[in-house]
Amino acid sequence: MSTTADNQFQQIISHAKEYGFVFPSSEIYDGLSAVYDYGPYGSELKKNIRDYWWKSMTQMHENIVGIDAAIFMHPTTWKASGHVDNFSDPMIDNKDSKKRYRVDHLIEQFADKLSESGKEEQAKEILHQMDALLAAENFQGLLELIQNNKIACSVSGTCNWTDIRQFNLMFDTKMGSVSDDADTIYLRPETAQGIFVNFLNVQKTARMKIPFGIAQTGKAFRNEIVARQFIFRMREFEQMEMQFFVRPGTQMKWYEYWKEERMKWHLSLGLPAEKYRFHNHVKLAHYADAALDIEFEFPFGFKEVEGIHSRTDYDLRRHQEFSKKKMQYFDADTDEQGKPYGNYIPYVVETSIGLDRMFLLVLSHAYQEEKLTKEDGSTDERVVLKIPPKIAPVKLAILPLTKKDGLPEIARALMDTCKPYFKCFYEEKDAIGKRYRRQDAIGTPFCVTIDHQTKEDNTVTIRHRDSMQQERVKLEDVKSIVMQAL
Ligand code: GAP
Repeated sequence: MSTTADNQFQQIISHAKEYGFVFPSSEIYDGLSAVYDYGPYGSELKKNIRDYWWKSMTQMHENIVGIDAAIFMHPTTWKASGHVDNFSDPMIDNKDSKKRYRVDHLIEQFADKLSESGKEEQAKEILHQMDALLAAENFQGLLELIQNNKIACSVSGTCNWTDIRQFNLMFDTKMGSVSDDADTIYLRPETAQGIFVNFLNVQKTARMKIPFGIAQTGKAFRNEIVARQFIFRMREFEQMEMQFFVRPGTQMKWYEYWKEERMKWHLSLGLPAEKYRFHNHVKLAHYADAALDIEFEFPFGFKEVEGIHSRTDYDLRRHQEFSKKKMQYFDADTDEQGKPYGNYIPYVVETSIGLDRMFLLVLSHAYQEEKLTKEDGSTDERVVLKIPPKIAPVKLAILPLTKKDGLPEIARALMDTCKPYFKCFYEEKDAIGKRYRRQDAIGTPFCVTIDHQTKEDNTVTIRHRDSMQQERVKLEDVKSIVMQAL
């Protein structure tokens, strides 16, 4: 990351804390690495993003239903899914600093530095070699790549590396009061398995016909080794996942469908297309026959925000094998020759987006420092969060110009009219300019000022966050103006 981008990112992190979006977890004890808490405005924004996803998946797609599965699952789930044996990253330790790195991150950081110093071709070549070696799981080759390029530890500055080893990312704990006898259980590293094990319960009770989807949002846990970049990579985070069950052989058609559909969802928030790109996976996860990331240009470069994975019938087949329960679907439809499809294990196309990562995407894109020239020629500055209105934490601030002359009563009445429909904020204190700035800083798209003219003609001033334009509108129209924008 360049120094300017780094500075800007640090500003965003400070702003998030100062204005009640994100706090370090248990901060009074100096925090817990890669764990964060969401404050009053952060929890609203997070909920709005979650609701927007949930609505677009379940309400707008008649063939998708939701569930809310438990975080704890039978331990065999993770044996069957392959996470016990395969959910690991290649790691390397520096013998001098004892610092552990994810191999791909170490090499990527080195490539970033090369690019920044104008050696873009060399950076590309190293990343190309890394992708090929990762795909072949050639750890000796990766170690040689690190050594040949003299990639050093950022703490010790030395190239004194251990061999590369796999490190499992699942957290485990014990269930039951006597830990010696209790079984080890895992905190789920993805929400998807709660969907797979409930596949037949959902299909039968909601009477779903293939193709259909099951959506879920919820916490996931990973013992990430390199946890950095604020809420981008956390140890406790939230996923929004949807498994779409299809006829075997049709998965690539649905993979393409969901790739486009999910990109449309992102763009429907008014986020710019040029900040997005697709990245096809070279090294496929153990369950996938095709996979890509939707990447966004964060302040620290293009990074994954969502994954689209064609997971084949791997998970359902493995659960059938381990549980000895049939995971088959009976398809009464017939093919072109009139032959019934009959019983089969469906294939699955998954869409999986990190809620916290989407939050960071929205926040970092929305954050703007603006220099303003006032009418009298003097200059001013403001920090504004240009959050898409439909997911903004507060939609409307209601601000009586003074605390007297009956203005608060009118403002309170407007508050009562609007608050059942969208989140409003009421404030009487401080000069109006100061109040506007505070609303800009939390991303409120509309402010309404009630002044003495309101008493005469029932009109108010509505101020638009992004343009800062003010217009006089009828008091009774405020609710519909805001609702229209949402
Ligand atoms: N069920 C498939 C799955 O979990 P993934 O690519 O490992 O796939 C999906 O994760 C999404 O979850 C990622 O695109 C990312 O947005 C989010 N995610 C993964 N690990 C994360 C972490 N440590 N912190 C925050 N978000 C994470």
